[in-house]
Amino acid sequence: MLTDHHCHILPGIDDGADCPETSISMLAMMKAQGVERVVATPHFYAHREKSVEHYLEKRQRAFEKIRNDSPIKDIRLGAEVAVERGISEIPGIEKLAFEGTSLILMELPYAEYRPWMSEEIYNISAEYGLKVIMAHIHRYLDYTKKEDMESLLSGKAILQINNEAFDTFRQRRFVKKLIKEDYPLVFGSDAHNLGKRRPDWDTALKRISAKLLEKSNNTLERYLL
Ligand SMILES: [Fe+2]
Repeated sequence: MLTDHHCHILPGIDDGADCPETSISMLAMMKAQGVERVVATPHFYAHREKSVEHYLEKRQRAFEKIRNDSPIKDIRLGAEVAVERGISEIPGIEKLAFEGTSLILMELPYAEYRPWMSEEIYNISAEYGLKVIMAHIHRYLDYTKKEDMESLLSGKAILQINNEAFDTFRQRRFVKKLIKEDYPLVFGSDAHNLGKRRPDWDTALKRISAKLLEKSNNTLERYLL
């Protein structure tokens, strides 16, 4: 079942879909590209949110706006949790895991790597028994020294790859290295809208091998609660 593990299709909750109509059009586009299951992952920035509970209520309200009209029926709720200092100690943080699973998608800051980032990721997995998925790891090539990338990769997280990674030589080469070294990978569109950041499975599907895609698509099943 082709699964999009990272996208911003819920309306009016982050910098993704601006209204239910955009959400529905994005989902229709995904469906036309072959997507059968979607994990909706609106941004969660701890410093901007009142609480995890408040975020979850907002997310549910956004979902209700599209639930009946969505052309893709299998939508799971998740979050893209920004790694901030102290994030692992926020009450209820474990509730941001993909629903029904022990998977949590975490996004590193776009800044030079610091060891506290790995510590927060480690603490979340150790304290709550969650499996961390590191969002679009290939995007950090420009911010991260080789040895720091090695520390990140050694953290036993699942690595999420945006479809767009196949569009540039450097990122593609990095993803190929991850594939060769057999890191666990999951794919996602990280779609935000109908413009520049639209669902882009059509091009990616030409580049991702069937075997790799199948592994990615089975990830939710492997981490069911
Ligand atoms: Fe994202």
